[in-house]
Amino acid sequence: MSTASRLPTLSKLVVAAPFYGAAALAPATPKSIELPPDGALLKASALPGYAKAQASCVACHSAEYMLYQPPTAASPYWDAMAKRMKLVFSAPIDDADVPVIVDYLVKTHGAEQPTRPNAAD
Ligand code: HEC
Repeated sequence: MSTASRLPTLSKLVVAAPFYGAAALAPATPKSIELPPDGALLKASALPGYAKAQASCVACHSAEYMLYQPPTAASPYWDAMAKRMKLVFSAPIDDADVPVIVDYLVKTHGAEQPTRPNAAD
């Protein structure tokens, strides 16, 4: 009984194997993927860190990464983030530029924004 019930399963596997092989060799069919809207930009600012952040922080990923950080994020958070980018991902950012970028980020995307989103709520 048990042997008989397993047999059909085995034969299905044997038949299926060449099919998978053919699928792997088939020409790649175009795939469509949904990307998030790419309109995310760093907030414009007269601070010197704006240009530096544009040069150093959106080379690998979009500004969305900064926009999704908590608006309450204070300087040490942004400082750790910039250093993390350098240490972990080898971001080419001058040590001297880090405090300038952090100053910009905390004042435009973090805790020191003049008008924080939801600040009046
Ligand atoms: C060398 C490439 C590179 C550069 C330059 C870079 N980052 Fe990143 N960043 C990454 C990678 C890789 C991740 C992780 C992506 C993931 O996990 O999906 C990341 C993630 C982030 C995140 C999301 C939170 C996190 O910890 O994963 C923030 C915020 C961020 N980066 C900010 C910055 C800022 C600010 C700068 C400029 C000071 C910067 N990045 C420059 C590569 C870079």
